Amino acid sequence: MKSIVVLISGRGSNMAALLEAELPGRICAVISNRPDAKGLELAAAHGISTHVLDHKAYPNRAAFDEALAEAIEQHEPDLVVLAGFMRVLGEAFVQRFTGRLINIHPSLLPMFPGLHTHQQALQAGVKVHGCTVHFVTPALDHGPIIIQAAVPVLPDDDEDRLAARVLTQEHQIYPQAVRWFLQERLHLTAQGTVQLADEQPHSAALCAPALDA
Ligand code: GRF
Repeated sequence: MKSIVVLISGRGSNMAALLEAELPGRICAVISNRPDAKGLELAAAHGISTHVLDHKAYPNRAAFDEALAEAIEQHEPDLVVLAGFMRVLGEAFVQRFTGRLINIHPSLLPMFPGLHTHQQALQAGVKVHGCTVHFVTPALDHGPIIIQAAVPVLPDDDEDRLAARVLTQEHQIYPQAVRWFLQERLHLTAQGTVQLADEQPHSAALCAPALDA
């Protein structure tokens, strides 16, 4: 059975969605860079091995990245899943896990990389927002896109309401992407493109606001 290491920094709701998804693989460890990450409790309650590598305890990014890579490799995972992991990972780390390192970002990339994506979306006045699962490359929030989900931005939205609507979709698309990977349907090619076997095309459009009936 294939195995997954999940990296978190906070509440871990995406990790929880993966735990509930009955994936054809097992989460063998959850690692957090923050000792107080809420997701650690949930992982432990599921009997999953948890580790904390507090980035503040390392002299620099390279030292933290090296320790993190070693902690991950102890579990020999097939896939490393960033689920709300709030540390930028250096190039050496990313190269080490190329093709088996994925992230979820709460925007329709390449729009709104970085932090405060829902605020950015509201300020830009976009009518459609969403989330993206992508392979991780050294350029922050810019890796090859695996799957995206789009949601409407509604007139009375604030950051919290919009974030909640996007999060619901995150919990759908992240388990899907992980399942594809575990089924060996999803690959990052040597050319840096995403290859998905038996892809189901989608023809429905999301118009926001809706067209008149
Ligand atoms: C999610 O919105 C994810 O897209 C972003 O950070 C948030 C983490 O939430 N990278 P959770 O810890 O999975 O609940």
